[in-house]
Amino acid sequence: MRMTDKTSGFRTAVVPAAGLGTRFLPATKTVPKELLPVVDTPGIELVAAEAADSGADRLVIVTSPGKDGVVAHFVEDLVLESTLAERGKFALLEKVRKAPGLLDVTSVVQEEPLGLGHAVAQAEAVLDDDELAIAVLLPDDLVLPCGVLETMSRVRRERGGSVLCAIDVPKSQVSAYGVFDVEECADNAETDVLRVKGMVEKPDLADAPSTLAAAGRYLLDRVIFDALRRITPGAGGELQLTDAIALLIDEGHPVHVVVHRGSRHDLGNPGGYLRAAVDFALERDEYGPQLREWLKFRLSPEWDPQSPIA
Ligand code: G1P
Repeated sequence: MRMTDKTSGFRTAVVPAAGLGTRFLPATKTVPKELLPVVDTPGIELVAAEAADSGADRLVIVTSPGKDGVVAHFVEDLVLESTLAERGKFALLEKVRKAPGLLDVTSVVQEEPLGLGHAVAQAEAVLDDDELAIAVLLPDDLVLPCGVLETMSRVRRERGGSVLCAIDVPKSQVSAYGVFDVEECADNAETDVLRVKGMVEKPDLADAPSTLAAAGRYLLDRVIFDALRRITPGAGGELQLTDAIALLIDEGHPVHVVVHRGSRHDLGNPGGYLRAAVDFALERDEYGPQLREWLKFRLSPEWDPQSPIA
C-alpha cells in the first residue's frame, strides 16, 4: 500500500544533545559540545538548518540538566540584535538571526544518561497526536551534501515503515556504529535503497552483518516509542535506539536504508571535528584561499617551525 504525502512526512526533528562530551574535555566542562563552532556556526545550528530544509517545522532538543545553553542559541537576543543594527553590522545581524528563525525549538530533559534510545523516547511527550513519524538527527554527524532526509521521506512514502541513512565504513570502524543486515528490495528499483533484515549496535567485526553503518539520520514511524518502552539495556549497558529498531524489524515493521554516497563528518571527536572545520573553512570566500595556501605550506617539505608565517 502506498502512503499519502501527508502520512509519510514529518514535522518534528529530534536532536539528542544530552551527552557529556567527554571526548572534548576540557572544553566541554562549560561549553556544550553541540555549540562548538564549525568555522563560526555551532554544529547544532548546521543540523537544525538541515532539518528545516528537509521540511521540519519543529526541533526538539533533548538536553541534560545544566545544558540549557544549547537551547539558548535558538532564542532571539534582542539586545545583541539592536546593538548590531545600530552599528550597521547587517551581515552579522543576519547570521545572529538565522538560528532563531529556522524553526520552532523546544527542549525536553533527559534526567539520566541512559542511552540514545532513552533520549529519543523523551521526545514523545511533546508530539502532537497526529504526528505519525519523527526525524532524528544526531548532531555529531554531518551528512553532506544535505538532502538525504528528503530522499528518506520519499522512500517512506513509497515503501512505508521507517527509513534510515547508511554509510559504508571501513571494516576497522564497524564496531563504533549501529550496523545493518540488508538485502536488495524485491523490486530492486534503486541500488541505494535496501531492505533491512536486522540491525546490531557496535558489533565486533566478526559479528558485523555488513559494513553499512547508521549515519545519524533516522526517519522513524511513531511505533518506535512503543518499541523503546520494551527494550532492555544493550551495548554499553545503555538503552539503544538500534535495539528498538531491531525489535520492530523482528515484528515485521518495514525498515529500509538509503545508502549515502556523499561525504560525512563526525563532529563527535576532536579529529573529526577538525576535519569538518577545515573542510567548511576551505569553502568560505573569506577564509578558504588563505587557509589553502597555508595548509600547502604547512604540509610541504620546506615547512620549518622557525620560518615566518606567510
Ligand atoms: C550512535 C548510534 C549508532 C550510530 C552512530 C552514528 O552511536 O548508537 O548506531 O551508528 O551514533 O554516529 P554513538 O556514536 O553515539 O556511540
